[in-house]
Amino acid sequence: MKVHKKINNELEQLKSESRSKAPERIVNSFIPAHDDKGPRFLLEGQGDKEFIRMNSNDYLGLSLHPDLANAGDVAAKELGANAGGVRFISGTTKYHVALEKKLAEFHKKEAAKIFSCAYMANLGIALAMMNKETFVISDQLNHNSIARAIRIAGVKRENKGFYKHNDMEELRKVLDNMPEGINRVIVIFDGIFSMRGDYAPMKEIIALAKEYDDMFEDGVITIVDDSHGTVAYGRTGRGTPEVTDSMDVDIIVSTLGKGIGAEGGYVASSKEIIEMVRQKGDTYIYTNPVTPAGAAAGIASLEIIDSEEGIALIEKARLNALRFRKGIEALGYDTIPGIHPIVPVVLRDTDKVNKTVKHLYDKGILATGIIYPVVPKGDETIRMQLSASHTDRDIDYVLSVFKEAKEMF
Ligand SMILES: Cc1ncc(COP(=O)(O)O)c(C=O)c1O
Repeated sequence: MKVHKKINNELEQLKSESRSKAPERIVNSFIPAHDDKGPRFLLEGQGDKEFIRMNSNDYLGLSLHPDLANAGDVAAKELGANAGGVRFISGTTKYHVALEKKLAEFHKKEAAKIFSCAYMANLGIALAMMNKETFVISDQLNHNSIARAIRIAGVKRENKGFYKHNDMEELRKVLDNMPEGINRVIVIFDGIFSMRGDYAPMKEIIALAKEYDDMFEDGVITIVDDSHGTVAYGRTGRGTPEVTDSMDVDIIVSTLGKGIGAEGGYVASSKEIIEMVRQKGDTYIYTNPVTPAGAAAGIASLEIIDSEEGIALIEKARLNALRFRKGIEALGYDTIPGIHPIVPVVLRDTDKVNKTVKHLYDKGILATGIIYPVVPKGDETIRMQLSASHTDRDIDYVLSVFKEAKEMF
């Protein structure tokens, strides 16, 4: 095709700007946890070399839990390998409905709707709630899916406001300087910021929203995308709203594909807003839902999370993050303060990040380097993600490899 020439140029350009994604590693199988070792992963082309996964969003290790696989198995045998249609035609099964009920209860909201993933959930809530007369205020470090959703929903450039990451004075300034004719304001933000592991000051954001609510016909609505916070954070796994005592946030967007260990995304809120999503959220309406197996796995996961086993897993993830954080700081590495299982090891240098990630890989540790332009120059980081499935021995081994890496520079 003629277009290949231009595409190849663009791909080369991305490479030359260090913006192209590395080739994907293929996971062929895993070895379940045994003795004092957590799960190990075998990769295509790496023979029987075992890898510890330190770059997964599976914060509680639930994606490998037999109850989830079994629940999916039963649902697939009962109702087939997919739902057979979009939700409003023939694709709503008892598993989808039960999962939505459970998610609403989990977040103490009236209702919920599931999407194929959280990316689509952000698009869906934006299409349902934002229009040309809406003013949308975002944290500058919000996830790509939120920024994309606001664009797709057609919010005008002059109706977009931003505040510096977690800066409440700036948020107030944006609220103070609203253009004429705005009838609805939405403040939208990540709960946990995935590149940093820190969290939004939700209580302050909600207090500001309430303070300005009367000034707009439809009020000031708060939306948190807690994809990395849900189940990974807070004593009972209710995420950033639990940690910040902000369960009264208006709308929660989250994923089933990270800590919950299943598949899909969702929005939880009032009955009215969820009905609006069902009527106007195109990424809910015109697309396949998750499979019955995926929905059943989500239900099984939430049952575990709300049991003693789940509470213990959440606590283990917290303790593992703490062990790693203390160890890495004792080695003299910089981190960003926080208590989430994302622990960024801040190296502030692309070359150091690349060499350290390679050294970790050589020693059987999967970790992700995050370099400019994903983060500003000077913030180059290795994002380590702890999980309840790691053992003390795993963590101490990873720390010993970081110690070796430090000696390389
Ligand atoms: C804040 C945030 N929102 C949404 C997503 C997308 O989640 P999903 O994989 O379910 O689409 C991510 C994942 O990286 C995320 O970090």
